[in-house]
This record gives sequence, structure tokens and C-alpha cells, in this order.
Amino acid sequence: MSAAVLDGKALAARMRKDIKREVSALAAEGVVPTLAVVLVGDDPASRVYVTNKERDCEKCGIRSIEKHLPADASQAELEALVEEFNRRDDVHGILVQLPIPKHLDERAILDLIDPAKDVDAFHPINVGRMVRGDGVLLPCTPAGVMALLDEYDIPIEGRECVVIGRSNIVGKPMAQLLLARNGTVTVCHSRTRDLAEVCRRADILVSAVGKRNIVTADMIKPGAVVVDVAMNTDDSGRLCGDCAADVADAAGFLTPVPGGVGPMTRVMLLRNTITAARAQNAKASK
Ligand code: GUN
Repeated sequence: MSAAVLDGKALAARMRKDIKREVSALAAEGVVPTLAVVLVGDDPASRVYVTNKERDCEKCGIRSIEKHLPADASQAELEALVEEFNRRDDVHGILVQLPIPKHLDERAILDLIDPAKDVDAFHPINVGRMVRGDGVLLPCTPAGVMALLDEYDIPIEGRECVVIGRSNIVGKPMAQLLLARNGTVTVCHSRTRDLAEVCRRADILVSAVGKRNIVTADMIKPGAVVVDVAMNTDDSGRLCGDCAADVADAAGFLTPVPGGVGPMTRVMLLRNTITAARAQNAKASK
């Protein structure tokens, strides 16, 4: 038997329609939701991600402003740019594409972004709010996974949820969002003893490792929901996730790669930009 597809591409397309309507409603109030995107250096993958984000914005009527700094930009230059966007009333969201060059202090930059404009939700204030359960801006990938699970009415409460990976961008916030919905959450990582044994407990398994074929059919409880967050490439350069092909035979639901989590991450950035624009507009008109 083959797993049912959790179709992120289709859900993201529906969500973009709602977002377009919200952009029109904001336009009627004189607000053009605007995202500032900062790219430092010439990493080709980052270039592609940034271009995609800008295209997504454009298609929904969200304005994007790109600032591209050279790879040898100083900490002071980058900080001055973030501060300028923090001050500007016509900028509602700020995203600094990661990774930034090694000589720069990434943490100091992320801490400098105004939490109200932090559409990645990487600022400690937004991380803290998320952990407390009252986050407004939530990190795009985990929030996208939750939206996808909800779309397919997948119950979370009381179920065994296993997250593989403990990055600040995906694994840790993913675990928090599942916990907030009363999942019983286990986080696995590179030091986990007997990964397969832990994964076999999972009713919902989220893999965010970045290593192809790390998740195989023997690690899946029959019928489990499997969410593959990774974007790897196979030997012929095609995009693939963490899951081996045979996972589809064991799982009940599975996200495809591409077309699963990726489009959800992208649409959540648009959603956060709208949320930020609305909140800033409401505050300004008080
Ligand atoms: N680099 C890889 N993923 C992300 C992300 O979600 N946000 C930012 N800013 N940079 C990234």
C-alpha cells in the first residue's frame, strides 16, 4: 500500500488566494505589506531562495525590497541596514537570509531585528513567546507543517510525535508546536541511541536531518504520518528528502519532496508578513 500524499503545494496555492484577498483589504486601508530581504554575499543557494521569496511576494501583491551586501560587508554595515529597516514605517517584515558569512555575528544580527518585523520568528522574544504558547509570528517551516497536518485533520493530542533534528530553524520549534497541541514529543539527534527504535514509536514522524535515505521503511510504524522537511539532492541532481522510497509503503500519510513542506514554508513567510503588517497598522492607527 502506498501512503496518501500530504499535498503542500495544493494547500499553499489555496492559502495564497486568501493572502491576495488580505493584501487587497490592506490596500483599501492604504497599507502595502512590505518585506525587506537582506542577502549578504554570493551563496548560490541563498540567491535562489531569496529570488523565490521575492517572486512569491510579487505574485500576492506584497512589496519586497532587496538589499544585497557584498561578502566582505562589515558587522556595522549590516547592523546599520537592519536598524534602517527597523525604523522605516513602510517596512513590515525583515528577513536576513542565512547563512551569513562567517566573519559576521549572526546571533547579534537576529537579536537586532525588531520582534514585530521578525517574519522568520528567530528573535529570542518570538522564540520565547512560541515556547510560552502565545506566539504570533511563528517560524515558517514548523508553522507550515502544523497547517498541513491540520488541513488533513491529523490528530496530534496524545499522540507520539518524533522529530529528528534539533536545529533552531526547524527541529526545536517543531517540537514546541507539537507539544503546544498536546502531542507526546521526542526529539532525536546525532547522539540518539537506536534512532530506528525511537522512530518506530511515532504516530507522527517529522524528519529534518538533511541526509537522504536516513529514514527507511523499517523505522515507520505502519500507517504513521511522515513529514519530510529535508531538501537534499540525489546523484542525478534531483531534489529529494530524508525518506527512502520504501517509506511510502509503510506510512499512512507522507509529504512529497518536492511539493510537500517546501511550498508551505514559502507561503508561511507571506502569511507572517501580512500578520506583521496588520499588527503594525493597527498600532499606528491607535
Ligand atoms: N536559510 C535557510 N532557511 C532559512 C529561513 O527559513 N530563513 C532565513 N532567513 N534564512 C534561511
